[in-house]
Amino acid sequence: MNDQNAIGTYSAENRSFEPSPAFVSRARIASRAQYDALYKESVESPETFWKRETSDLVFDTPWSALSEWKPPHAKWFIGARLNVSQSCLDRHLTTATRDKAAIIWESEPGETLTLTYAALHEKVVAFTAALRTLGVRKGDRVAIYMGMVPEAVIGMLACARIGAPHTVVFGGFAAESLRDRINDCGAKVVLTQDGALRRGNVVPLKATVDRAVETIETVEKVVVLRRLGAEAGSQLRAGRDIDWYDAVAAADPAQGHAEIVDGEHPLFILYTSGSTGKPKGVLHTTAGYLAGTHLTTKYVFDLQDDDVYWCTADVGWITGHSYLVYGPLSNGATCVLYEGAPNQPDWGRFWQIIEKHRVTVLYTAPTAIRAFIRQGNDWPAKSDLSSLRLLGSVGEPINPEAWMWYREHVGKNRCPIVDTWWQTETGAIMLTTLPGASFTKPGSTGLPFFGVRAEVVTQEGQKVPTGEGGLLVLKQPWPSMLRTIYGDDERYREQYWTEIPGAYFTGDGARQDADGYFHVVGRIDDVLNVSGHRIGTAEIESALVAHPAVAEAAAVGRPDDLKGQALVVFVTLKPNQPATPDLKKRLAEHVANEIGKFARPDSVRFAESLPKTRSGKIMRRLLKDIAAGIETKGDVSTLEDLNVLAQLREE
Ligand code: WT7
Repeated sequence: MNDQNAIGTYSAENRSFEPSPAFVSRARIASRAQYDALYKESVESPETFWKRETSDLVFDTPWSALSEWKPPHAKWFIGARLNVSQSCLDRHLTTATRDKAAIIWESEPGETLTLTYAALHEKVVAFTAALRTLGVRKGDRVAIYMGMVPEAVIGMLACARIGAPHTVVFGGFAAESLRDRINDCGAKVVLTQDGALRRGNVVPLKATVDRAVETIETVEKVVVLRRLGAEAGSQLRAGRDIDWYDAVAAADPAQGHAEIVDGEHPLFILYTSGSTGKPKGVLHTTAGYLAGTHLTTKYVFDLQDDDVYWCTADVGWITGHSYLVYGPLSNGATCVLYEGAPNQPDWGRFWQIIEKHRVTVLYTAPTAIRAFIRQGNDWPAKSDLSSLRLLGSVGEPINPEAWMWYREHVGKNRCPIVDTWWQTETGAIMLTTLPGASFTKPGSTGLPFFGVRAEVVTQEGQKVPTGEGGLLVLKQPWPSMLRTIYGDDERYREQYWTEIPGAYFTGDGARQDADGYFHVVGRIDDVLNVSGHRIGTAEIESALVAHPAVAEAAAVGRPDDLKGQALVVFVTLKPNQPATPDLKKRLAEHVANEIGKFARPDSVRFAESLPKTRSGKIMRRLLKDIAAGIETKGDVSTLEDLNVLAQLREE
């Protein structure tokens, strides 16, 4: 396999850190022996394990069999009937959690709004009634295109309460991408807001929705939250659009009840990038997803009743779904929800939020950590971070330097770090250390979570020896796994279950060390990870070739200190198109307009032609080396025209 996606160097990294006795004394899982015993039970007696571990999740009807596996389709908690919003809200109303803060919202300008579990429940019930009154029924799809406001969470939970699968689209996506997603799932209603605040600027979400849904017939209603007020100029289109709180006021209050659904009822669809131009609608269902996120949140973040937990991910990504909404709320946790950018008004914002709300658990991404490192050690030093007790990392490999900085300057050498590996498809954390149970190592994600059998194998599915690189696979189904790709079961089968015999293929390269710890190197397929955002090279390429000046395009990743990977595109132009710097700018802009600003190429390079095999396949491997400015070590014997390489280097 190739590991050209490797970010940072891992070879010399052999430091390890034990959790402090103070941490261990309170930890839910406080020794390696306890982890080992539970892990053993989870794989050898899964019925016993899951029966006990899901006992607090309120099932209307308990499950009669744990799972059914007809490869590649799994069902979990057979016969269970429940509603996720009851597990996240109603179940807390009869306990002291009722009056505990569920959400502490920090707006970008700095206001705070706290919603207790009772208040959040009330708002979700009211909005459920509003959606039902607008005609949303069990099984209908609802698209959510919003910023980081409590109503985004309320919207998700109201959909869950109806049994109407939501599809949240990250607010950074452009109209075209939003349209594709709404179209693909056939959403009936769209929830949005006039505008979101980002770095002091207004992101005009409603205007983007207007452009996206123009030609979509399935969309009957657009519900608009007035985040910015009247002056933001969000025009409501008569008959289609309705103000969020007008919809609540007009609703029949008797319509707020929770629909009890089957455990395998779809909970949501979340689009993610794959190796073709078309995003994949990853489908998650009710009971298994809830069980997976509930359990991982409890044990990986070692949740205690007095924790103030802050996951900085956007609700538009899977981390926002699993660890901002369903996992923490099903555990009755207090969650910080921050609306804005980490550098608004300055690079001290995160640390001020931690001080202000006495945050105890922080879950963020390596790309953010690397951005903080660049701004210097003074920023975190200015705030009181003594409330923190646990740190988490997710989204991409964390380089040991960033890990060490996080440990020293944020955790003050006191807080364990959990480096959690998982994917949109896995629904919940699969590889991690449990913070009170085992030592951690910079750059390693650690061990499998309960019920997870991970292995590093060859293309043929053979386990590779310790220390050697290979493909990361999961050897058996797990409760929170995706059930299919919405509307494309064939693609589900092909992408995940046929590549490696008898296993789920993650798309990642990894190795396992002598302690059994996994080191995930990064994607080995045509998927990039730019600032923790998954981007398919094929999506970028199809956006580029849609431009009138472009004949052919190839997108590759280049290692980048800040973003993990930077996006480099090689473009050949149509005849008579002058290769000007201005055109480079316009092509980068074009991609940003088609997909979203986060996908804007970092560098556009013109080429006479692209390196291809004799059968006409673009050799991305060579382009990657050129983008990285390194000599190609790989085999070029299949390259059709060697001159192409020389030209590209000169460019
Ligand atoms: C891909 C999944 C998981 C939620 C956010 C991203 C990479 C994720 C880690 C980690 C190394 C990681 C993998 C994975 N990744 N976490 N701790 N160490 N790599 O979700 O967009 O579905 O991307 O992110 O390459 O396959 P996603």
